[in-house]
Amino acid sequence: MSKILVIDDEKMITDTLSTLIEMVLDYEVITMNDPELLLNSDLLEKESFDMVISDFMMPKIDGIDVLKAIKKIQPNAIPILLTGYSDKNNAIKSINEVGLYYYLEKPWDNDQLITIIKNGIEKKQLKEQVDKNFVIIKKRNEEITRLYDLLQKDFNSELDSMYNVIISLANIVEAKDSYTEGHTRRVSELSRMIASNMNFDEKGLRNIELAGIVHDIGKVSTPDQILNKPGRLSNEEFDIIKEHPEIGERILKPLTSMNSILHPVRHHHEKLDGTGYPDGLKGDEIILESRILAVADIFDALYTDRPYKTKFTIEKTLEILKEEASANKIDSDVVDIVSNLIENEHIFDIYKREQTLKDTVNNM
Ligand SMILES: [Fe+2]
Repeated sequence: MSKILVIDDEKMITDTLSTLIEMVLDYEVITMNDPELLLNSDLLEKESFDMVISDFMMPKIDGIDVLKAIKKIQPNAIPILLTGYSDKNNAIKSINEVGLYYYLEKPWDNDQLITIIKNGIEKKQLKEQVDKNFVIIKKRNEEITRLYDLLQKDFNSELDSMYNVIISLANIVEAKDSYTEGHTRRVSELSRMIASNMNFDEKGLRNIELAGIVHDIGKVSTPDQILNKPGRLSNEEFDIIKEHPEIGERILKPLTSMNSILHPVRHHHEKLDGTGYPDGLKGDEIILESRILAVADIFDALYTDRPYKTKFTIEKTLEILKEEASANKIDSDVVDIVSNLIENEHIFDIYKREQTLKDTVNNM
């Protein structure tokens, strides 16, 4: 039940008000005729009021000061001031000081008074309900954030272990293929270097770096004797080698976070004129990431020793790349970037130091 405190030095007024309120509104009313006594008592600590109606002109202490003192103890109680006509201006001046809900002139109109009290109490209840709902919503939000963080942590650790599996597979491929040690790391770094000169954003750079690491992952299924065969491969053997882009895609496909690199993995051996494998894609069907990866892959194959050849000079390597670009096999813009990277010698950073694949991944 709502509780109202009525303060007036005239007992007749507090009696009249309390009878009126209790009769019409069925609220509990407590009256006080001595405001000083009220402030010195522990009533305000013991009882919680929804509303305080105070007279303005009282001996020793005025209604504004009384309401101010009550507000400090019970900030949520709604303050209403009763004033005589002559005190009206003084009362108005103090409205903001105490956050007055209403001031009423004596003699008051009963109906108006009841409406004001009723509205004030309803407003307070509504505010309390809103506050309560706000607390509930805040708690729910905190719970959602907590659950989301948990999920995120779970997801991250899953991602970590998944990356480790992928890196292990890429390492297995390197270990199987003894002649191409470090190839994966270099293709990854070179692809990133080229992409960075083509204004890829950070996410794009990370993707192409990852694509570089895993591009030959399908070779896990290629027999060692084919991978490591010195000299030329037979057509049958070459057909087996040519399966690795599709197998690589198949390995990575179940992993959602690898979706954005499936195309470069499957299509890093395609040629712009449609003579590549596995799908014979042409021109625009081959996305830029796949074209970059293809050039980086070929560059590294030319510029390092292989079972069937010693490494080409940098001049010869670039010459072959340019010929391939003129023959519409690989992207000429990407080859131009490689040419710049040779000119400014940045490309040699990749070939100077020995680094493991694991280090590359940790630096990503
Ligand atoms: Fe490959």
